[in-house]
Amino acid sequence: MTMTNKLADIAQRMVAAGKGILAADESTGSIAKRLESINTPSTADSRRDYREMLFGATEAMKANISGVILFDETLRQKARNGRPLVDVIKATGAVPGIKLDTGAKPLALSPGETVTEGLDGLAARVEEYAKLGAEFAKWRAVIDVGKSIPTHNAIHANAHALARYAAICQAGGIVPMVEPEVLMDGDHDIDSCMRITEWALKEQFQELYYAGVKLEGIILKPNMVISGKKCPTQASQEEVAEKTLVVLKRCVPAAVPGIAFLSGGQSSKDATAHLSLMNAAGPLPWKLTFSYGRALQADALKAWGGKDANIDAARAAFSHRAKMNALASVGKWSKSLEK
Ligand code: 13P
Repeated sequence: MTMTNKLADIAQRMVAAGKGILAADESTGSIAKRLESINTPSTADSRRDYREMLFGATEAMKANISGVILFDETLRQKARNGRPLVDVIKATGAVPGIKLDTGAKPLALSPGETVTEGLDGLAARVEEYAKLGAEFAKWRAVIDVGKSIPTHNAIHANAHALARYAAICQAGGIVPMVEPEVLMDGDHDIDSCMRITEWALKEQFQELYYAGVKLEGIILKPNMVISGKKCPTQASQEEVAEKTLVVLKRCVPAAVPGIAFLSGGQSSKDATAHLSLMNAAGPLPWKLTFSYGRALQADALKAWGGKDANIDAARAAFSHRAKMNALASVGKWSKSLEK
């Protein structure tokens, strides 16, 4: 198999019909916040126990999860019975992936903006992660929306870094998830989000082209076009679905096999409803699915509460959200199924 065919094959498995991706790659700092919310100290063991709870929901993993994004620690960790967690994931048929960026850092001379770091030494890290079993990777750029931001400098620096990362991944035989996230944290309206998302994606695909990245072997992980959380006027679910599709159709070539959204702070049910509305409006040139972190995990985290006694209840909560989002990925979710 040629390298491009191998990458395309992995990408196709990541967006298999009726499945989506579990983002479980919270950095040590982010997972500590999640565990704190359920009064559980963050230790290597508690982080392992939490992730083992999720990956061990075998039926849901087999039926509805095509891939799992991991943080470095998890990729090297073993389940309580000594089996590597990466093997627990692979046994369900899901593709293991790795978060490669080292975080969004202040962008010099661009107040309030960041550029995502992690390019130095990346080829060697890709080689090691591929040996550890990762078949795809993720890199998240953060585009903040405010009074005079984003600037072209921030959009361009992040798009360029993402393109270099994507090229390094493909050269090393793993599929890059390209994640330029326009944040929903501000008070901006949906039309500002639409304009900035279109801008970021246009720049992104231009940079991917310059870097020689094969679009058949990437997955795009974008934000939806949505009102800022603090915007007094919140767009309807229908408007979010419609405007997101307009932007994606303008910007994402049909050669891209799939688009897997981040949830970005949407409620679990909104994230599901939006995805379903978009798929129901098909046919679309690419698969459209989920790569949710919070929107897949929030209910399970709460149900688990850091206690072994709650593992079954937590797995049931996770399995339910996975099922709902899997239905949404084929446009077949409805509110009545949430009962
Ligand atoms: P959320 O779905 O919680 O936004 O996380 C997805 C992700 O991987 C962000 O980089």
